[in-house]
Amino acid sequence: MDNPEVVLEVLDLVKRFDGLVAVDHLNFKVRRGKIHALIGPNGAGKTTTVNMITGENPQTEGDVLFEGKSISGRPVYARAQMGIGRTFQNIKLFSAMTVTENLMIGGQSKTTQSLLKYLADFRSARKEERHLREKAKEVLNFIGMYQYRDEIVNNLAYGRQKMTELGRTLMGEPKLILLDEPAAGLNPSERKEFIEIIQKVFETGVDMFLIEHNMDVVMNLSHDITVLNFGCKIAEGNPKEILVNEEVISAYLGEGYRRKMAKGAEGNA
Ligand SMILES: Nc1ncnc2c1ncn2[C@@H]1O[C@H](COP(=O)(O)OP(=O)(O)O)[C@@H](O)[C@H]1O
Ligand SMILES: [Mg+2]
Repeated sequence: MDNPEVVLEVLDLVKRFDGLVAVDHLNFKVRRGKIHALIGPNGAGKTTTVNMITGENPQTEGDVLFEGKSISGRPVYARAQMGIGRTFQNIKLFSAMTVTENLMIGGQSKTTQSLLKYLADFRSARKEERHLREKAKEVLNFIGMYQYRDEIVNNLAYGRQKMTELGRTLMGEPKLILLDEPAAGLNPSERKEFIEIIQKVFETGVDMFLIEHNMDVVMNLSHDITVLNFGCKIAEGNPKEILVNEEVISAYLGEGYRRKMAKGAEGNA
């Protein structure tokens, strides 16, 4: 049954790769109007989880519900059309093309143009192209990338490429964006900018599911956190609860983090 407060739910998700259980009976709900983070050590199964949600690498067992409906059997493009967007841990852009061109390609999944129709009807294809170009311009303005619109992606700094990827995702007008380590490899000022833009996108009503290692980013952005270790959920809660969770500290954050937090608390006192 559709629960309007839940945008995405995963039910008993399992992913096996040959002998390896990468994700093991995972359950969680992403609430509407919230930023939900998925954290955990390398190899915990975070990217695998995202790939099951988008359909890039479907589950071995279990179910994925989007807005209350099972989407498990659906192909990637159908899930994207329903409103699930994503960015990749390793950037996947057409690096020899311009920023605008990459965004225009990202917008195409929303169009009804089939290739045949495209070939048969140049006039409507031209109209479509104008529309996509216009929309790309709006998105680039929104994310502060307009000045880079005609740059070849390959020539951009890494942070700009990551931002271009976010722009391409936004072209699909997603209701929910899955961000796989968006801040990895960014320098502190790029990271700060990225957080601001994610916040800005979120404020337009887009729900966010975020995989992230940088705890400052996680703590600044997220409302709910799910922690994975060896494919299993070991904790769930708000940032405050997660930071003091013994299992999370021993599996992921480490004792050093506890000392840092204690120091921070002293500093604030
Ligand atoms: N396509 C694949 N084939 C085989 N094993 C995989 C594949 N993708 C991921 N794995 C394995 O699944 C586990 C979880 O990987 P992943 O989801 O990428 O972890 P994370 O994103 O949390 O770092 C790892 O042990 C990884 O080696
Ligand atoms: Mg990963």
